[in-house]
Amino acid sequence: MRTDRDLSPEPREMGRRRFMIAGEHVILRAFEREDAERCYRWMNDPNVVRTLKSRYPIAFQNEIEWLDRAMHPSQNERHFAIERRDDRTHIGNASIHDIDWISRTGWFGLFIGDPTAWNRGFGGDAISTLIRFAFDEMNLVKMRINIFDYNERAKHVLEERGFVSEGTLARDFYREGSYHDIVIYSIFREKP
Ligand SMILES: CC(C)(COP(=O)(O)OP(=O)(O)OC[C@H]1O[C@@H](n2cnc3c(N)ncnc32)[C@H](O)[C@@H]1OP(=O)(O)O)[C@@H](O)C(=O)NCCC(=O)NCCS
Repeated sequence: MRTDRDLSPEPREMGRRRFMIAGEHVILRAFEREDAERCYRWMNDPNVVRTLKSRYPIAFQNEIEWLDRAMHPSQNERHFAIERRDDRTHIGNASIHDIDWISRTGWFGLFIGDPTAWNRGFGGDAISTLIRFAFDEMNLVKMRINIFDYNERAKHVLEERGFVSEGTLARDFYREGSYHDIVIYSIFREKP
């Protein structure tokens, strides 16, 4: 069973890591133009977007424009492609956004784009890796994510990694004919 200790830095020898941002099962890398087709497919897959805020079908051109922005991020955001560490296939996307560089807080979001790759440890490892990077390299001190109340899988993954539910926005999101609560999960670099 995983614990929130997974988020603490592993002892590692500087300069001997193989990838810039590496977890146990995934690496996080910069986006490339060639990722557009996969991102387009995932962002139009109802199984994937069901637990994301995206509502409308996305045109390929919009996806290319999003990727362009992701490759040239503003000061308060960073975007990453999630790859499997074993075969280097691109399996999902992750973002840190709305960074407040004074308070040193940020929001994040991510998805594993191919539902057949769910429940195999990739999403959880991607979260641990992203948060570790945010704390150890970007020097952020608190990270948070919005989760729809019906996203039991995400809630489980986050709670296993030491995230706590900090509050609920009641009936804040309309999806599939009814309103849903949004739960804010957060984690601190150091326990308050
Ligand atoms: C949420 C998401 C990132 C999780 O990725 P994943 O690769 O499936 O996660 P993992 O395999 O690391 O872990 C899944 C865990 O959830 C558990 N789980 C699966 N379905 C569940 C359910 N309905 N209720 C509770 N737990 C559930 C699994 O048993 C597993 O637990 P374990 O680690 O104790 O064995 C992925 O499902 C996804 O991309 N969903 C769509 C986008 C999304 O919801 N993003 C929200 C951001 S967190």
